[in-house]
Amino acid sequence: MTQELYAVTGATGAQGGAAARALLRADLPVRALTRDPNAPAAVELRALGAEVVRADFDDPATLRAELAGASGLFAMSTPFGTDCAVETRQGIALLDAAAAAGVGHVVLTSAANADRGTGIPHFESKWLIEQHLHTLGPSWTVLGPGVFLENCAGEWTLQSLRRGVFGYPLPVDHPLPVIAAADIGAVAALALARPERFAGRRIDLAGQWSTPARQAAAIGAAVGRPVAVEEVPISVVEGYSADLAAMFRHFREVGLQVDVEGLHREFPEVRWHTMERWAAERSWDL
Ligand SMILES: NC(=O)c1ccc[n+]([C@@H]2O[C@H](COP(=O)([O-])OP(=O)(O)OC[C@H]3O[C@@H](n4cnc5c(N)ncnc54)[C@H](OP(=O)(O)O)[C@@H]3O)[C@@H](O)[C@H]2O)c1
Repeated sequence: MTQELYAVTGATGAQGGAAARALLRADLPVRALTRDPNAPAAVELRALGAEVVRADFDDPATLRAELAGASGLFAMSTPFGTDCAVETRQGIALLDAAAAAGVGHVVLTSAANADRGTGIPHFESKWLIEQHLHTLGPSWTVLGPGVFLENCAGEWTLQSLRRGVFGYPLPVDHPLPVIAAADIGAVAALALARPERFAGRRIDLAGQWSTPARQAAAIGAAVGRPVAVEEVPISVVEGYSADLAAMFRHFREVGLQVDVEGLHREFPEVRWHTMERWAAERSWDL
């Protein structure tokens, strides 16, 4: 029998962690799925009131067991640590388990414009998962986040920030639709709590249009010293990931389309972060 219970995958990570927190803030019951219930992020979620259980995208029996009884699922997938083929296989296994367990509504997070034939490998792997979702029983909502603000605090970026430089593989004035993980989580929680309002919708997400130059300035203002902005040649990205290089080439040549103003109008309850607010709220270890 299903009860009001929201299963959250990736709950120890950025998007799932934000979705779990937004649900808990709304006093909704959360079951967080992780491969390691003793990891620090899992322990933190338990302290916030989540039920934390062990499940692995590569172990369908654990998925079916832990999705049983859930009314809703926040579903995420990732190629990082494995590859795009594994991402698609795991994402499909997760959705199949949700359908088999009788989950009522699935909120799947993908990537902005992944449904538009971008040719970017880790967008295409997500589009295959989205298409599979359309064939299954549960009602669904797909979220397509733009560029995470959290990327500005990734280890690679922090290394150059420690030298006073924000390097980005795009022209410094190139507009990007950016989003804080917290805002993805906020929309996901709305969609899980109100499936009738969100069923059958694919919503690309961004809180703001920003540029590498604005991001550098916002970080500089937050840390209290100037941060220079520098365009990193795409060949540098190509050196470590053809997939990410394809993404930055797409950003440069085609660009992403996200209706930021429409999102602000439709979802005023999401306190959409600007780069400036996100940077000011973070504690920077530079
Ligand atoms: N960065 C961006 O700008 C951006 C923009 C749009 C979309 N995306 C997409 O966002 C996704 C990454 O999301 P994120 O940043 O929220 O993730 P994240 O912080 O990197 O965390 C990864 C999560 O995946 C879970 N996970 C990985 N393998 C698993 C497995 N075999 N079984 C169960 N759980 C597993 C991990 O859980 P445990 O370790 O606890 O098991 C962890 O919670 C990627 O697909 C990326 O393409 C990123």
